[in-house]
Amino acid sequence: MSKAVIAVVGSAMIDLTAYATVIPAPGQTLEGDLFTTGFGGKGANQAVIAAHCGAEVHFVGKLGRDLFGDSIAENFKKLGIDSEYVERSDTPNGVAHIWVDANGENRIIIIPGANHEIESKKAIEAIESIAGLAVVVAQCEIKQEVTLAAFSAAKKRGCVTILNPAPYQPLSEELFAVTDWIIPNETEFKELLGQDPTSDEVLKKFRPGKNSIVTLGSEGAVLITSEGNLTRVSAPKVNPVDTTGAGDAFVGVFAFGLASGKNPEDAMKLGVKVASMSVTRKGAQSSYPSQAEIDTLS
Ligand code: RIB
Repeated sequence: MSKAVIAVVGSAMIDLTAYATVIPAPGQTLEGDLFTTGFGGKGANQAVIAAHCGAEVHFVGKLGRDLFGDSIAENFKKLGIDSEYVERSDTPNGVAHIWVDANGENRIIIIPGANHEIESKKAIEAIESIAGLAVVVAQCEIKQEVTLAAFSAAKKRGCVTILNPAPYQPLSEELFAVTDWIIPNETEFKELLGQDPTSDEVLKKFRPGKNSIVTLGSEGAVLITSEGNLTRVSAPKVNPVDTTGAGDAFVGVFAFGLASGKNPEDAMKLGVKVASMSVTRKGAQSSYPSQAEIDTLS
């Protein structure tokens, strides 16, 4: 079987995470349980899990010329993620400040830093040059104009494009037009459509004529085909300790699935299993199953 070739145009961050039983209210100081630093950023998370699945992954992004940027570059190298289109900047690397509570729920503030300096022309150059490219993935932690440029170039050469609209921001009609798959979570779905994804009627109203998947946390995910048909995939019951990066795990695995020739439903099933496993461990990339573990889930 030929390699699944994926480009992720996106963000790479260092996650600074505080775990606490209770999250402080405004003006309150509380003692937490644990502090960790780890690899994160929605783009890098998606790239890393796709690489764990066995994809040939090309990351298109910008890192700070600092210790955080150096360690992310080293991690990409270790994982075999192609970094020909990763540039460096004097602006500090992106960071995410994360609080995780006793239920594993997170609150995140990102400081995009160098991630906001990716240039459209570099993204286009990358997408036009990568041999055998099948799928291009992006999120909303980089400038939307860069995603639009990358997806437009991707469509010109017949690639599939997947947008994870996280964190939510209004999306241009031009970007919708070059996006084959959009994968919001429940919150982003509500922001995009103005209604919660709680009923089949509401789900069917989302983006007629195009394919979408809504991730539903512990409920799994639902696929909405371009004809308005729904397929639900439920998640295994797990004990969540940290949900950070679970949505990214789903998106990266789904991208791998499509690029390796799986049908969307099978790609979604694997994505739900991997994401469910990730919430049982702490961190974003540090929570992702290895290739050997993923093989047992396929
Ligand atoms: O989706 C989780 C990610 O969001 C974290 O890794 C953090 O870096 C933020 O980008």
